[in-house]
Amino acid sequence: MLNDHKNNPLAKSFGKVAVLLGGESGEREISIQSGEAVLAALLRQGVDAHRFDPKDQEMEAITGFDRVFIALHGRFGEDGTVQRTLDGMRIPYTGSGVTASAIGMDKWQTKLKWAEAGVVTPAFELVNAESDFDAIEKNLGLPLFVKPANEGSSIGITKVKKTGELEKAYQLAAQADPLVIAEQNIGGGEYTVGILGKRALPIVKIVPKTEFYDYEAKYERDDTEYLCPCGLSEALEAKIQKEALAAFNAIGCQGWGRVDFLMDEAGHHYFLELNTSPGMTDHSLVPMAAKAAGINFDELVMQILAMTLETQSEEIQHVG
Ligand SMILES: Nc1ncnc2c1ncn2[C@@H]1O[C@H](COP(=O)(O)OP(=O)(O)O)[C@@H](O)[C@H]1O
Ligand SMILES: [Mg+2]
Repeated sequence: MLNDHKNNPLAKSFGKVAVLLGGESGEREISIQSGEAVLAALLRQGVDAHRFDPKDQEMEAITGFDRVFIALHGRFGEDGTVQRTLDGMRIPYTGSGVTASAIGMDKWQTKLKWAEAGVVTPAFELVNAESDFDAIEKNLGLPLFVKPANEGSSIGITKVKKTGELEKAYQLAAQADPLVIAEQNIGGGEYTVGILGKRALPIVKIVPKTEFYDYEAKYERDDTEYLCPCGLSEALEAKIQKEALAAFNAIGCQGWGRVDFLMDEAGHHYFLELNTSPGMTDHSLVPMAAKAAGINFDELVMQILAMTLETQSEEIQHVG
């Protein structure tokens, strides 16, 4: 067990650690909250940890560190870009590598990979300015979801409920990313599976009081309910945890992350998306799931960082 003081034996083996936070994505503010929480945990555990915001600091300066905890969300931090830079500098970092990060950030590519691997995901179509919007509405049915392929925090997402509203929803999503997908609505409940190493954590059920789990429900309101235990039968939970790990591996992800799924009214589940650098504030979902598994926030942070000791040599082999 890791203790809440500065004698953690792991602390010294990490050397000088940078916590990458902030950045310039749409999720900057959340990333600052995640990064500050991670930094505080590392400092409590006696790690020589420092905040590093690529918005204010040149990335070259990261060469002065022995390893990196990535607490960036969205573009640059979660899409493989910063991972490529760190690979080039041979600095080990938390979480997935370049390719898995890039695929995981892109909902379209994730769904293609999942379809290939037999992971069930809601029906979808790509949308562009020339699309036959009426046909898409007919094919997927209403309501349907329209979202940018490369974004997060529900930014640019619309639940289209009425005929004729798809085009406007497309235009909104296209402001965030030229690649836009329309997706069948799955309306029987929303859940998430935290992944820590080779293990799926207890499932959390998310019950927003808004129409769907939008930006407001995620970060601004405090009435979203999070249920853990999630209310599924033990057998079903175990089955879905196994599938979530397979979905994580199908993208080539490593270290830690979160796989989200939806349930329809008939009780069938569909994998929605995955996050390779999920929220790490003390009220985020992975910390919540870890806690249910008996792992407190500081231990969670230390375990995630400790995986950079194991994968160090592996990552260096990936360079080039
Ligand atoms: N196909 C869908 N059916 C039902 N709800 C959906 C669907 N797609 C998205 N949502 C709702 O929108 C939220 C955000 O969508 P998601 O695809 O997870 O994007 P983000 O990366 O922004 O979190 C989900 O948490 C869910 O509440
Ligand atoms: Mg999501």
